[in-house]
Amino acid sequence: MERLNQIIAAHAGREGPLLPILHDVQAEYGHVSEEAVRAIAHALNLSRTEVHGVVSFYHDFHAEPDSRAVLKLCQAEACQARGVEALAAGLADHPRVKVEAVYCLGLCTVGPNAMVGTTLHARLDAAKLGALVEALA
Ligand code: FES
Repeated sequence: MERLNQIIAAHAGREGPLLPILHDVQAEYGHVSEEAVRAIAHALNLSRTEVHGVVSFYHDFHAEPDSRAVLKLCQAEACQARGVEALAAGLADHPRVKVEAVYCLGLCTVGPNAMVGTTLHARLDAAKLGALVEALA
């Protein structure tokens, strides 16, 4: 709780502090717990429903912990045209990697593309994606 209060205090004076707080809480704990939602709502004078609404709207935030590695796979048009849907289908319900859809990583000419953490992976095919998943798992 002390770390949570530090995160909230670090952003409390900012304009629009909710998203930065949620990003830091997600990064610190791997999810935004009900306890965190309650504390954030109280600190920002928001309702828990308002905070829940933001947590559930953005793919970056998770209400429950998930130990799987996150692979953000571009699902926008250029990557779709290069076969990303078949790649994504191959990872559906993967036990150790969670695939999150993102919409354009800015590398449209070299897709299909993905991002793990802050690292971009371009020109993916089944073999390259398989190797990337193996490295994550
Ligand atoms: S459409 Fe996939 S990187 Fe732009």
